[in-house]
Amino acid sequence: MATHRTLVVVAHPNLGSSRANASRLAEIEGVGNVTVHDLYQVYPDFRIDVEREQQLLRDHDTVILQFPLYWYNVTPLLKAWFDAVLTYGFAFTFDGSPSALRGKTAWLAVSAGSTLDTYSAEGLARRALEEYLAPVSQTLQFCQFDYQGVHPVYGMMFDPTDEDLVLDAQEFSKLVAGSAVPVA
Ligand SMILES: Cc1cc2nc3c(=O)[nH]c(=O)nc-3n(C[C@H](O)[C@H](O)[C@H](O)COP(=O)(O)O)c2cc1C
Repeated sequence: MATHRTLVVVAHPNLGSSRANASRLAEIEGVGNVTVHDLYQVYPDFRIDVEREQQLLRDHDTVILQFPLYWYNVTPLLKAWFDAVLTYGFAFTFDGSPSALRGKTAWLAVSAGSTLDTYSAEGLARRALEEYLAPVSQTLQFCQFDYQGVHPVYGMMFDPTDEDLVLDAQEFSKLVAGSAVPVA
């Protein structure tokens, strides 16, 4: 059986001051068959090498998009990456033929400053995180990924303890290692 390979596309503008995403990344260091691809490190000027990115996607079976939520959305370089990399013919078709991404799975690893309670009908955000991420989940499904959902960590504005973050990172690492379906 071919080895299952996982690509973690990280899109954090400032990993140096990150807690949630940095601890998640530290925890998956050394996990086998996982490629961590830090977009802001590779493309600080936003000049994305489309061929390279498409080849990376071809070479992996599971794709995890990891980012902090910025204004209820992905970070700017991840949006630029969608626009550049997910091209017609490669990522999507209109005639029912398979894209290069069909048969691959994808899920999101998202950190949010606000709490889970905030992301509810009664909360300040008025809707669930998944609703804000609908354009992303739809993009992935339009590109024929088997979309598996969001693995969130909430409440980063409220200074979670290091212990909480380690527990979150361990859970994340288990999902990455198993390429399991994340539970939102
Ligand atoms: C420009 C900007 C916009 C943000 N927008 C949101 C937001 O819409 N909702 C939210 O819950 N947190 C928001 N945050 C908080 C970040 O999501 C939070 O700081 C980040 O997920 C923490 O992860 P890190 O420790 O890896 O940096 C925002 C932060 C910045 C800097």
